[in-house]
Amino acid sequence: MHERTAVNPRARRGLVFATFALGAAVAYPLAVTGAPATGKPPGADAASPAATANTAAPLAGAAAKPVSGGGDGPHGALAMAKQEAALSKIVKPIAPDGRAPAGIEPTFWKAIVPADNGLTDARVALGRRLYFDPKLSKDGTVACATCHDISRGFTDRRGTSEGIGDKIGQRNAPTTLNAFLFSSQFWDGRAASLEEQATLPITNPIEMGMPDDKAVMAVIAKDPEYPKMFQAAYGRPATFDDVGRALASFERTLVFLDAPFDRFLAGDLAAIDDDAKSGWVLFNGKARCVSCHQMSSSSPIGTDNRFHNVGVSARHKDFEGLVKKAMDVLAKDSSKEALDRLALQTDLSELGRFVVTRNRSDIGAFKSQQVRNVGLTAPYMHDGSIATLWDVMDHYNKGGEANPFLDGGIEPLALTEKEIDQVVSFMFALTDVRFAEENKAEHERQRALSKTRRPLRDDAAANRKVLPFEGRAAGQR
Ligand code: HEC
Ligand code: HEC
Repeated sequence: MHERTAVNPRARRGLVFATFALGAAVAYPLAVTGAPATGKPPGADAASPAATANTAAPLAGAAAKPVSGGGDGPHGALAMAKQEAALSKIVKPIAPDGRAPAGIEPTFWKAIVPADNGLTDARVALGRRLYFDPKLSKDGTVACATCHDISRGFTDRRGTSEGIGDKIGQRNAPTTLNAFLFSSQFWDGRAASLEEQATLPITNPIEMGMPDDKAVMAVIAKDPEYPKMFQAAYGRPATFDDVGRALASFERTLVFLDAPFDRFLAGDLAAIDDDAKSGWVLFNGKARCVSCHQMSSSSPIGTDNRFHNVGVSARHKDFEGLVKKAMDVLAKDSSKEALDRLALQTDLSELGRFVVTRNRSDIGAFKSQQVRNVGLTAPYMHDGSIATLWDVMDHYNKGGEANPFLDGGIEPLALTEKEIDQVVSFMFALTDVRFAEENKAEHERQRALSKTRRPLRDDAAANRKVLPFEGRAAGQR
């Protein structure tokens, strides 16, 4: 169990009120304050042109074609200038004097901002420039914002990401929205902080592809603005570690915790519809989602910050063979750069957390992903193999994919079609109001898709009496 920090009294009142209104016993206090509605949802304005075919997810095919954003920049990303303009409309200025942003507990905020990287305007401005700068890539075509694209839910809407030279990696790009709230970064948690995470893609051979940190610093030295900006931000000449720090500072401004669900918790009972309300009760009850996707004051994004095998990789992997191979590879090199390459460029990627800890219990285990803004980030899971939230529900409903390392918390749920729709509605109520239009369009797109294809639906498994481990015990495997 992780520690629970002091709960904002207003949020607590809101939760009690909401719980009372639903008649449900919900014991998870939320620190998400009832931040007042500020600004109108900018939605898809000039900076969000129509979808293009080349942003479709390769794994899920046409099914995962996004509904908004992208297209006119390299690798299907929205052009950087347009992304920056779109960001300016939605991002809020930082709170003065290192204070916590609206929606985050002050004590929690203090714990997650490193002492040597307090948030200042100069650091955020520098990190923001770096985030959108394709010059930090070997061929000048890839920036952080290529794969964490403002117009596409701060991800790329692909199954797995495409970097320099159109090279495709093994993993799905999670959103950078609220990512600062995780206690470790990446699907396997191999980076301990945002600072540590941020420099890795720059030198990863298939992401931004810079040969080494010296090459990056040479680019920065030649730029007319960067040397001054680094001096202003950190009071010293630019270093590669400060590149990581500045990017992390910028990412700490991506606070997107003002969803209809939060307004509901704050007492606006009309903020979400009846389906979403029932979905929240199911999420905490029959569907058992909350056992890993905790919504609490120390985790307003809905993660337990732990790693579980929920059977996603089990669909196509021989774990024992991979483990043998991994042990050989790791014996030679287990540096953080080596782990990064292994995760993104080899089939050992499917071992997940195991390559970080080498504990057998971590085979095929990945971080419980956040459920915030999940309406914007299809396709889903570490390999982008699940196209819609209906498919996600089908996966959990049938008890995941059987494998020897499946988490004990994954069992058949016997959810009805109506209940599945309700949990999905709840998840779409977790998208920040600044993306309300895109979220609504995506809900409709996925609903339509779910009417024609449900590849993971298995009613017999969802309602089965014999559980997979009983089958294994009886020697059926
Ligand atoms: C080529 C596409 C690509 C580029 C460029 C890229 N990323 Fe990512 N990003 C990914 C993928 C894929 C993952 C997941 C990798 C994994 O977990 O093994 C990821 C993971 C992350 C995470 C972890 C989020 C979480 O939920 O754990 C953060 C934060 C992040 N990237 C920030 C950045 C920053 C900052 C940059 C620029 C320096 C950047 N990324 C460049 C594709 C990309
Ligand atoms: C045993 C822990 C556990 C339980 C129970 C659980 N999840 Fe997850 N969830 C995870 C993990 C771990 C991942 C990432 C798995 C992977 O990529 O292989 C995940 C991923 C997801 C994703 C994908 C997010 C993204 O951005 O790709 C969604 C959505 C999700 N879960 C929703 C739910 C819902 C809804 C329920 C209840 C029906 C649920 N989860 C139950 C652990 C769990």
